[in-house]
Amino acid sequence: MKARVTVYAKINLLLDVLHKRSDGYHEVAMVMQAVDLADTLLVETSSRNWLVTDNKYIPPNMNNLAMKAVTLMQSSFPQVTPLKVTLRKKIPVAAGLAGGSTDCAGMLLAIDRMFHLGLPQKELQQLAAQLGSDVPFCLGGPTSLASGRGELLEALPPCPTFYFVLVKPDFGVSTPRVYGNLKVEEITDHPDLKRYLQALAQKDQDYLLAGMANVLEQSTFILHPAVKKLKAEMQSLGCQHVLMSGSGPTVFAVFKERSAAQRYYEKARQRYKRVFLSKTVEPELLQERVQIL
Ligand code: C5P
Repeated sequence: MKARVTVYAKINLLLDVLHKRSDGYHEVAMVMQAVDLADTLLVETSSRNWLVTDNKYIPPNMNNLAMKAVTLMQSSFPQVTPLKVTLRKKIPVAAGLAGGSTDCAGMLLAIDRMFHLGLPQKELQQLAAQLGSDVPFCLGGPTSLASGRGELLEALPPCPTFYFVLVKPDFGVSTPRVYGNLKVEEITDHPDLKRYLQALAQKDQDYLLAGMANVLEQSTFILHPAVKKLKAEMQSLGCQHVLMSGSGPTVFAVFKERSAAQRYYEKARQRYKRVFLSKTVEPELLQERVQIL
């Protein structure tokens, strides 16, 4: 038995941190958006658990989020056999694009379908939350409000179509370090979430662009001044709407028109090594993520 799964990257259109919690996590409010930069996973029943990947940064063993999903499902549902997983990575690793989380969510969806588990969404969400804060979002989307430590989700009206040019610097960042370095009480400029949600409901593209914000930028910029410099350069390359995604270091520029994004992409490619042109994922695409072969 085999399945092919297509899984999408996420960006944060808005990321606010409200306070530090007693469990060590931070209470967040995030508008998450799936974009069509995608990895694929080929999942096959096998005599042992086994990961094959074309990405040199991912250890080909059980010590990554996709294979942790396999282990969790096998311990919860005895009918789940050992699996060979072939992971083709397009989403950069440690980039702030939820690449590992989306591979992990894809494995949960694939195992649910392949072994006819028929798990209700709520149960899948609970399993996902055990694996990482961004994994529950990656089960669904394309546009959601995430709260708590990121695992509590509310579906939002799909974001109007935007085009993104993403630039990934040639280093990764550690999410725990970025949160650890953040001084929440010093955040004076919290984004206006209520207004942002209204803009989504009204498909007010101008505010959706102007109201984008990420309070983790200040922490990542201190740890990695190169990210601050990249953001400024990307603005001067001809886009007003530029933001760091998640805890970074990927920075994205947003456009309403494909042609403007394409022109910017060509310019950015001359300057940076890892540049991706992407767009918002349509809700229908998410229905077709798992294909049984
Ligand atoms: O849940 P996940 O494993 O993705 O989180 C990685 C780390 O990021 C956590 O151990 C924590 O240090 C930090 N984090 C946080 N608050 C969040 C999410 C993550 O402090 N809401």
